[in-house]
Amino acid sequence: MTDQPINIKKIGVLTSGGDAPGMNAAIRAVVRAGFYYKLEVYGIYRGYEGMINNDIRKLENKSIAHVLERGGTFLKSARSEEFKTVEGRQKAYNNLKSHGIDALVVIGGDGSLTGAHLFYKEFGIPAVGLPGTIDNDLFGTDLTIGFDTACNTAIEAIDKIRDTATSHDRLFFVEVMGRDAGFIAINAGIGSAAAAILIPEKKFPVEKLIDRLKFREKAKKESNVVIVAEGGKSGGAQEISEKVKKILPTYDIKVTILGHLQRGGAPSSFDRILASKLGVSAVEGLLQGKYDVMAGIINNKIVFTPIKRAIVDDKQVDEEELRIAGILST
Ligand code: F6P
Repeated sequence: MTDQPINIKKIGVLTSGGDAPGMNAAIRAVVRAGFYYKLEVYGIYRGYEGMINNDIRKLENKSIAHVLERGGTFLKSARSEEFKTVEGRQKAYNNLKSHGIDALVVIGGDGSLTGAHLFYKEFGIPAVGLPGTIDNDLFGTDLTIGFDTACNTAIEAIDKIRDTATSHDRLFFVEVMGRDAGFIAINAGIGSAAAAILIPEKKFPVEKLIDRLKFREKAKKESNVVIVAEGGKSGGAQEISEKVKKILPTYDIKVTILGHLQRGGAPSSFDRILASKLGVSAVEGLLQGKYDVMAGIINNKIVFTPIKRAIVDDKQVDEEELRIAGILST
């Protein structure tokens, strides 16, 4: 994992894949740490697309003024199809070399880190990845940049839905993001007193959901909000709501899909601090010869994990959290 350090003078930083609150704070930390260690730092705009299209600009102190507190990513982001091809990566490499960039910090989710890994293997460009995704689905870190803010946003929205659900004695199905991962759903569900949490990692048969709703009816619960992670095993919120409606036709059911709302907004204090710590660690890791790794946080300590493991190994949902959620929702 630690190689003989090469003499790094210029680093490039990029954000790629779905944006996440705290990405700006991470970029800022990379730039500040770079300057501290007397490096030149280049911003690569629109992720790997910008590397291929040579949208690469030198960053200055003023480039990162007042970005720490802003959502989104000022470097912009993209999901690049061309970078998945050898020709695309060759173009990207030529552009990096034309700027004299020796190493990269890649901020993004598993697709972005896969790109960094391939690029290191093919062209030997050292990279440290930072886990930047609201999904929290990367092995090698307890938490990803943006997850905390996304959960806070989801909980705030669900609280509002709860008000109207209670006023009308309605059953709401709220769909949260997380592609193939239930981390946002579990956190948002526990944090908003959900009646049930449906996630891609676990089966939750409709019959079990019906029993839960009937039990809650007997217990005179005034509202029911069921949290559904997108990509869930039993379908999305709309599909599940239709199945439930068939069995419980008297229930007044509504569906809300929170969608991209969860990706925006100012980063929470937790995400600002996590991103800041990881950004500095990425630069220091590169200078120490830690290549092809992701910097993450485990038990509040910075840990470097080979990117290959971060993208291939499965991050498991916490069974204890699920058990607690089960107790709290009955
Ligand atoms: O990976 C982050 C994420 O927000 C997922 O939760 C979601 O499934 C996906 O990105 C949506 O991607 P896009 O913005 O490209 O539609």
